[in-house]
Amino acid sequence: MKTVALIVAAGKGERTGGALPKQFAHLAGRPMLLWSHEAFAAHPAVDEIVLVIGAGQEQLLADCLPNARFVLGGATRRESVARGLAAVPDADRILVHDAARPFLAADVIDRLLRALETADCAIPTLPVTDTIISIDGATLPREQLSRVQTPQAFRRAILTRAHTQWEGGEPTDDAQMVRALGGSVAMVQGDAMLEKVTWPGDLASAEARIGWETRMA
Ligand code: CTP
Ligand code: MG
Repeated sequence: MKTVALIVAAGKGERTGGALPKQFAHLAGRPMLLWSHEAFAAHPAVDEIVLVIGAGQEQLLADCLPNARFVLGGATRRESVARGLAAVPDADRILVHDAARPFLAADVIDRLLRALETADCAIPTLPVTDTIISIDGATLPREQLSRVQTPQAFRRAILTRAHTQWEGGEPTDDAQMVRALGGSVAMVQGDAMLEKVTWPGDLASAEARIGWETRMA
């Protein structure tokens, strides 16, 4: 059974801004995408890691991970995942992960792969703790809502089928495409550390988190 981690890192990081796309910005002196790459490399169940990067980002990758296997992504996250997927036809299980979520703990991967034994797909989720309102001001029932993170684990065949048959708009993750096909989606406990770096201040928060974790260790 071959398990491949697909790290999508082909975005432009426009909301974060900065000189480099956020996945190449440094966190504690190391490019962000190295953090999750190392987490997958250290996990015994992961056989191979494929990075999906943007055209023109080859040198940035070569500077930090010269021996990494990579493919070029597309204009949307969905296209980037599809291109990564096409490059690993021999995989049985795929873990799709955002490079913009640097702090990936091994136990999240453990929970996902365990859940995948009895589901088509497994996703990490966290409860919503803020009050959530719609743009017209109506309060939504937060006990019925969850925050969805990555990595997301898939049986390869269903993920390929989901990408091939998808007819909706631009999805924000892959699990929603599997659900659209009628596939089973297992929810496992997510991790607050998996927060996605999205806005300018998030890089500084991520740095602060590293300092805090180091002091607590
Ligand atoms: N991603 C990708 N290919 C794209 C767009 C996004 O591989 N065409 C990746 C990003 O690199 C990121 C993940 O998908 O790791 C989540 O996307 P997001 O947080 O939206 O990153 P960006 O698209 O880079 O940021 P922005 O939307 O602010 O430009
Ligand atoms: Mg984006």
